[in-house]
Amino acid sequence: MPAEMIPVLSRAEIAQKVKTLAKRISRDYEHRELHIVAVLNGAFMFLADMVRELSIPVKIDFIRLSSYGSGTESSGNIRITKEIELDIRDQDVLLVEDIVDSGLTVAYIFEYLKSFRPKSVKVCAFIDKTERRQTHVAIDYVGCLVEHGFLVGYGLDFDEKYRALPDIYRLEA
Ligand code: IMP
Ligand code: MG
Repeated sequence: MPAEMIPVLSRAEIAQKVKTLAKRISRDYEHRELHIVAVLNGAFMFLADMVRELSIPVKIDFIRLSSYGSGTESSGNIRITKEIELDIRDQDVLLVEDIVDSGLTVAYIFEYLKSFRPKSVKVCAFIDKTERRQTHVAIDYVGCLVEHGFLVGYGLDFDEKYRALPDIYRLEA
């Protein structure tokens, strides 16, 4: 049980960052139809907020993965448990993630999406956590850079706890 939850981002700060991101994305994809693929479960809240700020038409799909291993670290042993269902061939695709840590998950999904031969694939992550990056991933749209720590709230969980909190905290053991 964590002893402390240190506030990192308030709901007002989150809303501001989501707005800024959505504005950039709307501008970059103007007159195009964006096919969004969001990663379950963590990205659901960010996705819901972001799409409501977009001024372009979007189609939305989800992907879900399981990564063997436990605790707070990605094992890199990734398996898809829910495939995409939208036809993304020749489409502009935006992969939406809650947080990028080692980068292994995004790198894996990126290759998976490319196998459908879309016109383009870009990556949007609400949080870019650089401390434990293991593989280079280009994140085209970043809401917020956080150097270290394990974060919860706003879709992010620890063992399925804290996911529904509207603000983001760092867990301190
Ligand atoms: P990666 O493959 O190491 O980049 O990790 C990707 C996944 O691990 C994210 O989609 C999250 O679900 C989870 N994750 C990584 N860091 C955190 C964190 O600080 N809090 C909650 N979940 C995290
Ligand atoms: Mg995730």
